[in-house]
Amino acid sequence: MKYLSIKNGPQNVSAVIQGCMRMPALTREEAAKVIRTAFDCGINFFDHATCYGENGEAETRFAEAFPLTGIRREDIVLQSKCGLCFDRNEFDWTKENILSSVDDSLRRLKTDHLDTLLLHRPDLLFEPEAVAAAFDALEQAGKVRFFGVSNLMPMQIELLKKYVKQPLQINQVQLSLEQSQLIDQALYMNNKTTDFSVSRDGSALDYCRLHDITVQAWSPLQYGMFGGSFIDNPQFPELNRVLAEIAEREQVSKAAVAIAWILRHPANMQAIIGTMNPAHITDICAACDVKLSHHDWYTLYLASGKFLP
Ligand SMILES: NC(=O)c1ccc[n+]([C@@H]2O[C@H](COP(=O)([O-])OP(=O)(O)OC[C@H]3O[C@@H](n4cnc5c(N)ncnc54)[C@H](OP(=O)(O)O)[C@@H]3O)[C@@H](O)[C@H]2O)c1
Repeated sequence: MKYLSIKNGPQNVSAVIQGCMRMPALTREEAAKVIRTAFDCGINFFDHATCYGENGEAETRFAEAFPLTGIRREDIVLQSKCGLCFDRNEFDWTKENILSSVDDSLRRLKTDHLDTLLLHRPDLLFEPEAVAAAFDALEQAGKVRFFGVSNLMPMQIELLKKYVKQPLQINQVQLSLEQSQLIDQALYMNNKTTDFSVSRDGSALDYCRLHDITVQAWSPLQYGMFGGSFIDNPQFPELNRVLAEIAEREQVSKAAVAIAWILRHPANMQAIIGTMNPAHITDICAACDVKLSHHDWYTLYLASGKFLP
C-alpha cells in the first residue's frame, strides 16, 4: 500500500480508500470480511455518506460489523459526507442540516468523532456563513477533526474559504479512465472540434494541486454516471486489451492497472474503490506496486477513447 499525508488533515492515509456506498447490500458478517480484508491490504481510510442506503444504512452496517473485525477505531480514518438529501429531493448545507447529519452519522457509526467530514454535492442555496458556523460548532464539540468538500468547483471552494476558518484540504470528485473529464480539458484546451475540451469543473485539478487539496477519485472503475464497470466490459475492447497487456506484464489484475493509472498522476490522489468482493479488494490493492511508465499512462489514456490533439 502507498500512504500519503493530507496537508492540514489526517497523516499516513492509504492511497486506496474503501468506499462503503454498496455496503447496505451485505450482511453484518460479509461487511466485517470487507472491512478486515481492506485493512489487511493496508487500507486505513473508509468513506461514507449520510445518503448511502436508506436512513444511512451503510454507516449502520459498518458499525454493526466493525467489532467483528478486531480493528481498533484509532487505527482507521472514518470519513462521512453530508448535504445530499435524496429522501427530500434536495441538497441542504444549512447549519441545522449539517449539525444534525453529523449527529446522525456519529450515532449510526457508534463513534464520538468523524476524522473527516466532506460537504457532498453543492447546495445551490448555500450560505457560506452558515457552513462556517456549523464547522465551528462541530470542531469545538470535537465531533469532526478535519473538513473538506466533494464535487466542488474552485470558485465555490474560494467562496467557502472566505468564511470557513478550518482548512478545506480534500475534494472528492469523479475520475476513471473512462470518465476522465477532470484531466481531459487541459489536453484539448481551446479545441473546438471535440467535447473533451469543455471545461466542466473550472480547472478543479490544477486548483487542487495549487492549494495542496487532496483529490479523492470516486468510481475509479465505472463508465458514465454509474453505467457499470468498464473492466471486462465488451463495450470497451481496446481499453480492456491494453489493461490486460499491462496486467499480464505486472502480474496484477486489470482493475489494479486501472487504479494504478489514477495513482500514477502526479497530483498524488487517493482512489475510492467500491467493490464489496474481498478478492477484488485484494487484487486492486496490488495497484500500489504497479510501476506505470510515462508511456504506459498515455497508452491507457488513448485506449480509453481519447486521441492526441
Ligand atoms: N462523492 C460522490 O459524489 C461519490 C459518488 C459515488 C461514489 N462515491 C464513493 O466512491 C466509492 C466507489 O464508488 P463505486 O462503487 O462506483 O466505484 P468503483 O470501484 O468504480 O465500482 C465498483 C463496481 O465495479 C465492479 N467491478 C467489476 N469488476 C471489478 C473488478 N475486477 N474489480 C473491482 N470491482 C469490479 C464492482 O463489482 P463487485 O462488487 O462485483 O466487485 C462494483 O460493482 C463509493 O463507495 C463511495 O464511497 C462518491
